[in-house]
Amino acid sequence: MARWDAEEATRRVLERCETLGALSETPNNLTRTFLSRPMHNVQSLLLEWMREAGLSAHLDAVGNVRGRLEGAGSGNPGSGIFVVGSHVDTVPDAGKFDGILGVLLGIEIARAASETEIHHSLEVIAFSEEEGVRFGFPFIGSSATCGSFDPAWLARIDANGITLEESLRNFGLNPLEIPNAKLDLAALLGYFEIHIEQGPILENLDSPLGVVTGLVGQSRLTLEFGGRAAHAGTTPMNLRRDALTGAAEFVLEVEKLARATEGLNATVGRLETLPGAGNVIPGAVKLSLDVRHASDVVRLLSTNKLLELARGLAELRGLKCSITQNLEQSAVPCDPALTSRLVGAVLHGGLSVQRLNSGAGHDTMIFAPHCPVSMLFVRSPGGISHNPLETVLESDVEDALEVGCTFVLDVLGDHSA
Ligand code: GLV
Ligand code: MN
Ligand code: MN
Repeated sequence: MARWDAEEATRRVLERCETLGALSETPNNLTRTFLSRPMHNVQSLLLEWMREAGLSAHLDAVGNVRGRLEGAGSGNPGSGIFVVGSHVDTVPDAGKFDGILGVLLGIEIARAASETEIHHSLEVIAFSEEEGVRFGFPFIGSSATCGSFDPAWLARIDANGITLEESLRNFGLNPLEIPNAKLDLAALLGYFEIHIEQGPILENLDSPLGVVTGLVGQSRLTLEFGGRAAHAGTTPMNLRRDALTGAAEFVLEVEKLARATEGLNATVGRLETLPGAGNVIPGAVKLSLDVRHASDVVRLLSTNKLLELARGLAELRGLKCSITQNLEQSAVPCDPALTSRLVGAVLHGGLSVQRLNSGAGHDTMIFAPHCPVSMLFVRSPGGISHNPLETVLESDVEDALEVGCTFVLDVLGDHSA
């Protein structure tokens, strides 16, 4: 068998990003939400690629693709499992690298590991859901592997009124088997994720890679403003209860507060107007609210302030305002000891060490309560992500692969870990 070659492995990763980037639920762009039709294809390719790289692979009950390489010490006391993962779902009109790149690099790291003696076992996981697009809350795949999948989530509905439970069954998965997706947490040595940065910091530093120090917390909510649908031509302006004008005022308040608060990012990314006709005054508006800050206190106080503002605005306009909390995720620090090993691998690769915080959420956050976690970012040219223009530089991907290999093989070979 040919020996592992970083340049060849990098080319394979980038070619496969293109292949998976063409598997979309929409014809002219990349949109691949949780358990959408093209996921079947993605899963079979990943199973095939994992097996070809020397892993034993299977699909779990939430649609995660799992590949395992047993270490020589497997089953003995003192031997554990190290997980390398990222996700395969996308936002609407996505780029081809968010999530996928980390999964494919994980497979190449495993291929390298399969050619050497390893003490601990390695599991590569392609999480089925991380973005939170379909059901309004993220991390469904990684939550199942960490035993934090809440059975109440099965009743959540998507935009078409399909429950999470139905979506699993329609896809051919059995929700009753979700508890079996849980890893042996007692044996978990750590979690590592490689991901594109999705922002401009590394590019501005002229650096291919970044070591992540921590991830910001996030609150995700749905607000519904309720007014009265009425005729656009016959209802005088002073007699309207227009849900959209109320919602519009709120959207501007969100921007105003975030601009006035250092480090706060707050976004209304989705707005649904009902009944949605040009000659009908909007009777109801549903909108999403995403609030992030490195400090949980600032995030929670800001979120509460925004909700108070929403209620106040609604009252002044005679609207109803209902609020649903979809996600409350605390900020997460990366593990100092594991991260310093990662720093060692960056230095070993002859690269400078740049440290940065992540403004994006990652599956890493779900593993953090259970084991040491670490993350490596790859420069995002133009700082662009969640956009089809998202891209990577081939030489950066090769650097990430070399550093990732050094780091993971170091952890897997460590008998004292
Ligand atoms: C995931 O991409 C997020 O929204 O942070
Ligand atoms: Mn994303
Ligand atoms: Mn991602």
